[in-house]
Amino acid sequence: EAVVVDPISAVEAVGPGPHPRIAKPSDIYGDERVNSSGVDLSVGAERDRLTAAVAALGTLTPPPETTSAQIDKAFAAARLAQPAWNAADGPARAKVLRAMGDALEAHQDRLIAICAREAGKTLADGVAEVREAVDFCRYYAHLAEEKFAAPELLKGPVGEVNTLSLHGRGVFVCISPWNFPLAIFTGQICAALAAGNAVLAKPAEQTPVIAAEAVKLYHAAGLDPRLLALTPGRGETVGAALVAHPGCDGVAFTGGTETARRINTSLAGREGPIVPFIAETGGLNGMFVDTTAQREQVIDDVILSAFGSAGQRCSALRILFLPKDTAEGMVAGLKGAMDCLVVGDPADPGTDVGPVIDAEAKEALEKHLHRLNAEATVLHRLAAPAEGTFFGPVLAEIPSADFLEREVFGPILHVVRYDPEDLSSVAGMLASRRYGLTLGVHSRIEAFAQEVAELVPAGNVYVNRSIIGAVVGVQPFGGEGLSGTGPKAGGPNALSRYALERAVSVNI
Ligand code: SER
Repeated sequence: EAVVVDPISAVEAVGPGPHPRIAKPSDIYGDERVNSSGVDLSVGAERDRLTAAVAALGTLTPPPETTSAQIDKAFAAARLAQPAWNAADGPARAKVLRAMGDALEAHQDRLIAICAREAGKTLADGVAEVREAVDFCRYYAHLAEEKFAAPELLKGPVGEVNTLSLHGRGVFVCISPWNFPLAIFTGQICAALAAGNAVLAKPAEQTPVIAAEAVKLYHAAGLDPRLLALTPGRGETVGAALVAHPGCDGVAFTGGTETARRINTSLAGREGPIVPFIAETGGLNGMFVDTTAQREQVIDDVILSAFGSAGQRCSALRILFLPKDTAEGMVAGLKGAMDCLVVGDPADPGTDVGPVIDAEAKEALEKHLHRLNAEATVLHRLAAPAEGTFFGPVLAEIPSADFLEREVFGPILHVVRYDPEDLSSVAGMLASRRYGLTLGVHSRIEAFAQEVAELVPAGNVYVNRSIIGAVVGVQPFGGEGLSGTGPKAGGPNALSRYALERAVSVNI
């Protein structure tokens, strides 16, 4: 029986990140491609600076909903500016993307403060949010330099020169979610821009202020404003109009699976050219633990994966599979660790779990809790402030993955006790849900991790660590099935579907 990985020495090898087990990319690359200037919340002065930034915010005024005349105008302006941007080579575009990253870094305190107030993100999550946005700018700048600099020379017969080059498609529509209102918003925009496109960006209707702030910074950093228009508004109105517009040459979407399906249907029904669709959607993510797993480490990783960011990550842990012989001890440990979580004001540096995004989200969680109370066993629940949209983390036992039809988005962790003899049928039930985003395994036995990974489809598999917090350029992120189309964000192939390929063959 081989040991998979020694998690402690693995952490030491990459150095400490914002969370002990989340490596900072700068520690790994040791170069300037990624952001190394994260705020350290363990330093009092930095905490004070962020608290002051929150206090200085004033009222956040959302921009008004985009009108259809404004949408037409934005498409027309983008169409005019895109050819020159596309004709500039990758390294020229990379310069602008790097300037965008620098601008974010220079204004990080205010951006973190807006994340707390507009999206309810804790300060620690806000730090990670800005860091990821900066990483996207720099990583996609790096890909633009690497893949869009000059045509690739291909092998061919003597007397012929064959090349392959990449180009922008035109105008991309980017639709982003509220749970990463800066990072994913920026990631989609940078990917589209790096590949030579112009962008119309629609942020989630809950988080337009941080998006507007970012767009202002990008324009001030030197991006031609015609290449990036902010088109805020509701999905049913503005989102629908953007994807149905004849000027739309591609769509990048991150959000719910049902919305992705609606966009796909709308695109399929369009006249004219076939429009590519990139979707990153939800997950019904499981973690399988065996009896060789190290208890304290499992508890730490489960708490972070299930309740970090108030469970509002598509990567979050939803179902924990515990072997029946050691489940009792694990559950007791989890309850104890839950009791240490502080639920409260996200702008307070001591808070672990902030509010959920809005009243509708809270209501959906209450409804699910009601079902758990009636049909399953609620093992533990934390109290939460009554005012506002707080929802105390819940631990509940369900009979099997079959109990859950779809993703439940928030701090509710389900536990399934399983007999190791039945691993394949237990895991098969999870696979039958057809999601495929993140998967966790905690074991000292390599063969166990391999078996689980073969049984459950997932775009991101994590062994002996948490299953959230994919780092740009380190853990390319994205799923399959109901979880998305690929290509993976923050990976070497991320720009492929944002670009057109042209093969040129010259007989010399
Ligand atoms: N990329 C995020 C994570 O890995 C989720 O969107 O947690």
